[in-house]
Amino acid sequence: MSSIYNNLNLIDLNDFPVAWWEKLLELGHEIRLRPGDYSERCKGRIMGTLFYEPSTRTQMSFQTAMLRLGGTIIGFDNPATSSVAKGENIKDTTKIVSGYADIMVMRHPVAGSVKAAALTADCPVINAGDGGHLHPTQTLTDLLTLKEEKGRLDGLTIGFCGDLKNGRTVHSLIKAMSCFKDNKFVLISTPELALPAYIKDVLSAGGHRYTEVASLDDAVGMLDVLYMTRIQQERFASKEEYEKQKGCYILDKKKMAKAKKDMIVLHPLPRVDEIAIEVDDDERAMYFKQAKYGMYIRMALILTMLESRDKPMPLITGSLHPHQKCSNPGCITHKEKYLPHYFRGKSTMLECEYCDERTLVE
Ligand code: NCD
Repeated sequence: MSSIYNNLNLIDLNDFPVAWWEKLLELGHEIRLRPGDYSERCKGRIMGTLFYEPSTRTQMSFQTAMLRLGGTIIGFDNPATSSVAKGENIKDTTKIVSGYADIMVMRHPVAGSVKAAALTADCPVINAGDGGHLHPTQTLTDLLTLKEEKGRLDGLTIGFCGDLKNGRTVHSLIKAMSCFKDNKFVLISTPELALPAYIKDVLSAGGHRYTEVASLDDAVGMLDVLYMTRIQQERFASKEEYEKQKGCYILDKKKMAKAKKDMIVLHPLPRVDEIAIEVDDDERAMYFKQAKYGMYIRMALILTMLESRDKPMPLITGSLHPHQKCSNPGCITHKEKYLPHYFRGKSTMLECEYCDERTLVE
């Protein structure tokens, strides 16, 4: 068993103990109440933001967070204007930026790409979304919103609706919420957009109750929280397949009338058509407030990670299988061929260290 330590990175929230998240949530709460007290805490520090994929909230809330902590930012939001356009690989780009910056935030369209970057980076790396895989800082945003607006992270019936297959925010949040007691999960999707098996396994392994349903209308009345998501057009194999799913769920006033008086509606945004504009004025619609909580929790995260640089975490816990290929065609190991093939587990079934998909031993 190898164990590669290089820095304190945030690739998957579940790599950290729940006590660590809870400290972050407390700090996020503190910062929200007294932001001025933190305005110089990152003076002289530089954050690199490498966004290989479009972003509004994640990128800008990270940048604002660093600026509000007194630090500065470098980076790109369009790889076409960087050397990526000349064919530079992830390793070289991120190695260089991690030498310029004190902390690096990265979003990329391929699953496992941020962990790949963290392998050789010289500063802490934060995953701001890797393909359809994970989005841990959106999850921290969601947890802070739940904590502040529902007052708890346990004993909740939470409905996830929309593209549960490709929605990385859903995957990360389900993994996180499964760490708290007595949560019930209602998975609302078409069969084509169902939650991947490896995330369902997280729920089953933890003994959590979950149901899979097709109708939002039928499910809405039982929920404490409704987490809406857009259908992720860019992750479909073809336009035709996307067209078949487009518009399959729309939350409107009529459906809101069936919901509990204290149910809250979350959405990581951007919205396409899955929440009618008429819902915005409902006091249970929490998505704009949620985006603002994202800035406070990212301030807490940047501060905590910069202050814990001397406490690295294991990045790779499995071992090298040079000839084994990951079964997921969307995994970064198929795109960046120089990457060492690391897998967890010893039996006939291995788990890819980058994208978490399971693979039968060849
Ligand atoms: C989400 C993302 O990028 O995964 N947006 C976000 O970070 N707030 C959700 C989405 O794109 O649908």
